[in-house]
Amino acid sequence: MTDLTPAHPETEYPIVVEGLRNSFDGYVVHENLSLKVRKGEVLGVVGGSGTGKSVLMRSIIGLQQPDAGEVTVLGHRMGAEEDEEGGIDLRSRWGVLFQGGALFSTLTVGENVEVPLRQFYPDMTDTLRSEIARFKVRLSGLSGEAAFKYPGELSGGMRKRAGLARALALDPELLFLDEPTAGLDPIGAAAFDSLTRELKETLGLTVFLITHDLDTLYAICDRVAVLADKKVIAVGTIDELLALDHPWIQEYFNGPRGRAALDAKDRPAGAPVHEVPRQSGLGPAQPEERIEADKSDFAPDIDDKRAGMDSADRTEA
Ligand SMILES: Nc1ncnc2c1ncn2[C@@H]1O[C@H](COP(=O)(O)OP(=O)(O)OP(=O)(O)O)[C@@H](O)[C@H]1O
Ligand SMILES: [Mg+2]
Repeated sequence: MTDLTPAHPETEYPIVVEGLRNSFDGYVVHENLSLKVRKGEVLGVVGGSGTGKSVLMRSIIGLQQPDAGEVTVLGHRMGAEEDEEGGIDLRSRWGVLFQGGALFSTLTVGENVEVPLRQFYPDMTDTLRSEIARFKVRLSGLSGEAAFKYPGELSGGMRKRAGLARALALDPELLFLDEPTAGLDPIGAAAFDSLTRELKETLGLTVFLITHDLDTLYAICDRVAVLADKKVIAVGTIDELLALDHPWIQEYFNGPRGRAALDAKDRPAGAPVHEVPRQSGLGPAQPEERIEADKSDFAPDIDDKRAGMDSADRTEA
């Protein structure tokens, strides 16, 4: 991997992945993948569809057992026997917004946010738990009333915010977001970006952000990691990445869509914010594509049969 900005103290990496290998029935997704995420940064993770971004995230949070390699999160080696007992506590130190949202459809938004609180703080009083849940709902930009609604009663954007509220339930140090703006309209996506950045600044979060959304990359990411050829081929600022002579990187950031996203970022304050349509890095920005993305947002949520299970063990809806 080309780490374009290597001068950083070793202790400042809450996530360290080394020599990771993942495969499914002989199909190798990652081979010798390494990545270090810095404390307090928003790290964007990009790569073509199917390159293993979500699998990488699942490996980091312990939902995917790798064939080989080491994953160290907040100083704990994932999967190591001596850390088995500390594993539960460790899971309370991160929050995850899965690609499909993964809200429990038969629980209200507030009850969804309460799930991790119940899990990690079983002795908490009902009143305190529901107050914290409502606070997180508000923190995520939803009205207090939204706490009493069911996921099916919310728009796609509101459901993303509800998922974010649940990810923030335990005051995490690390926030994992898998395609948080997919399927949102441009205004909703820009608002979600601002919220992510604001939460990162005010709560001191480190954010691992998987996205195809070039506007998001330009707007809120401190650095970007590029997945290709089964590994992270480079990590750095967008300017640093652009200085590399890699065809995929050049096409992604320097193609017409990348340039439009850059123009949008550089637009002076006060200019219409959504003059340039938000760009996804993959293929042409056809209306069909947005509709396709919208569909995934309305994928059925997890039913309540699974509501009793550990929230961190859930896979994407
Ligand atoms: N549980 C699984 N069983 C078998 N194959 C899997 C499993 N999870 C992921 N894969 C395969 O691993 C590869 C990487 O999947 P992953 O979901 O990480 O891609 P991605 O980069 O997140 O793609 P997208 O941008 O479309 O979300 C794909 O080929 C996928 O089919
Ligand atoms: Mg994915």
